[in-house]
Amino acid sequence: MKADVLLGLQWGDEGKGKVVDVLTTSYDVIARFQGGPNAGHSLEFNNIKHVLHTIPSGVFHKDKINIIGNGVVIDPIIFASEIEALTKMGVSLEATLKISKKAHLILPSHRELDAASEASKGKAKIGSTLKGIGPTYMDKTGRNGLRIGDIIRVDFYERYNSLKNKHKDILKQYNYNSNIEQHEEAWFKGIEVIKRFELIDSEVEINQLLNKGKRFLAEGAQGSLLDIDFGSYPYVTSSNTVCAGACTGLGIAPSRIGEVLGIFKAYCTRVGSGPFPTEQENATGEEMRKIGVEFGATTGRPRRCGWLDLVALKYAIMLNGVTALIMTKADVLDSFDSIMIATAYKVNGKITNTMPFEIDVPIEPIYKEFKGWKSDITNLKNESELPILLLEYIKFIESETGVPITIVSVGPSRDATIIRK
Ligand code: GDP
Ligand code: IMO
Ligand code: MG
Repeated sequence: MKADVLLGLQWGDEGKGKVVDVLTTSYDVIARFQGGPNAGHSLEFNNIKHVLHTIPSGVFHKDKINIIGNGVVIDPIIFASEIEALTKMGVSLEATLKISKKAHLILPSHRELDAASEASKGKAKIGSTLKGIGPTYMDKTGRNGLRIGDIIRVDFYERYNSLKNKHKDILKQYNYNSNIEQHEEAWFKGIEVIKRFELIDSEVEINQLLNKGKRFLAEGAQGSLLDIDFGSYPYVTSSNTVCAGACTGLGIAPSRIGEVLGIFKAYCTRVGSGPFPTEQENATGEEMRKIGVEFGATTGRPRRCGWLDLVALKYAIMLNGVTALIMTKADVLDSFDSIMIATAYKVNGKITNTMPFEIDVPIEPIYKEFKGWKSDITNLKNESELPILLLEYIKFIESETGVPITIVSVGPSRDATIIRK
């Protein structure tokens, strides 16, 4: 069996949590492969809204295996609070959630380093979620990190202190007013919560599950335009969010990747700093934010909003080898008279349809205008009910990208989902 991958094609928050929850019925195993509590994946069913940060979005379905892969970074405090919230909802995961021994730990001092680094950058700050993601991946690649498998070692506490003290020295150079000890009690309690779960050699178990024919879905976090290599560097996250990240973040060979499901919003959003060529810093953007409730699921920050960007979308499709597209939040555009799609950029007077290396030059999008469908699509259940003007919008994207849009999401809840043939 091959592993399917679902990942975001924009700057995150495309609706991955909702769609993974919908698709989980067709899979046996759901696994996260990168990122950490910078992610906020929202799910909605039976009028319950829930946001997951570290835990895969398959957890609301009984008898599914959920795996946190080696490529993920885990903050025990946030993990424990997620488990507590799920337990209160009657979801018990001790038997079904497994954690890779090779996943790295976010220490309280990593969070302080994130904050200190951002403060030192002033106006050039990344707009990090301040969850300690960058510093934790830096320690991973710098070969200093602490991993989940280390928590059962007898010298874990010494290892923890040694890394914390290294961080304290760096924090002094930043003149950062450190308060690490305040969070340590909760952090070590979180470590005890993690110990209640099965800690596994995930790469081995995952390949065994695939050998046994289990249907496997890898759930991406963030989006392709936040990828450490291919995003708008340095305004990116610190992991490979593209499909290749599923191979390194789970220990799956590239030849074992099956379908690549690329998810995008019918428009675009971005939280944090960095280029956003189709951004609408005007009444149009405000309208998108208001109707789409575009506020961060992790930080609550207002999301920047703008039109769909085909240059960026095609780039993301190329990087990931997307085999099927999923479009979310078309319903947010229900009341718009006209809707734009950027089909090319004008950079330094030249028209281009590839992503420029330089991100500090002005990029002028070239738009194609579409007439709005001006009807409420939130209660539609079948493709045949979709307004013709929305179908035109969909068909244009399909013909430009060469990839079929197989799912159209028309609302936040599980049942607001149209599967196309
Ligand atoms: P993720 O990080 O990709 O999982 O996305 P988020 O959960 O951060 O943000 C997506 C937001 O849009 C959430 O509030 C979802 O409940 C909501 N959402 C998902 N799909 C749809 C949709 O088709 N229409 C509308 N209106 N909201 C949606
Ligand atoms: P999900 O999985 C949207 C953004 C931050 C910031 C940059 C770096 O919910 O789609 P980091 O904390 O990773 O160092 O922040 O990346 N960012 C996200 N934006 N959705 C996310 O996750 C994000 N995770 C990080 O806003 O610009
Ligand atoms: Mg999100």
